[in-house]
Amino acid sequence: MLNLKTGLFLSAALFASSSFADTKAVELSALSNGTEAEATYMASCFACHSTGAAGAPKVGPGNADAWTARLEKGMDQVVTNAIAGINNMPPKGLCFTCNDDDIKQLVEYMVDSSK
Ligand code: HEC
Repeated sequence: MLNLKTGLFLSAALFASSSFADTKAVELSALSNGTEAEATYMASCFACHSTGAAGAPKVGPGNADAWTARLEKGMDQVVTNAIAGINNMPPKGLCFTCNDDDIKQLVEYMVDSSK
């Protein structure tokens, strides 16, 4: 049965997931395949990183802490892990058109989107 606390939690969760789509604060730049980081993020990374599936650090406003912890090992190492894959994170997030620079831009986009 839904009590008040559960209801509040659910509306907070719904708010958190709907607010991400409205975020336009991030500067966009084209990747090597001609698409923008946001479009490639939506196509290749969003499925896991919007929900935190399989332990993926969540992307979107309010998720800065998840990224601060990861960035403690340095941006270069985080990008290297995204390129090579780490645990349940597949190499390059299965973006077969992405080169290493593209992955770096995508990671920067994800971190910037999570402030
Ligand atoms: C199949 C699900 C999935 C997809 C698709 C995916 N990721 Fe991930 N990602 C994960 C998981 C799970 C982790 C956490 C891995 C861990 O540290 O255990 C992760 C971690 C990361 C990290 C943190 C690495 C670190 O060193 O802490 C970065 C950066 C990242 N992903 C970038 C991306 C990018 C960029 C894309 C799209 C090109 C992408 N991911 C697509 C599941 C995914």
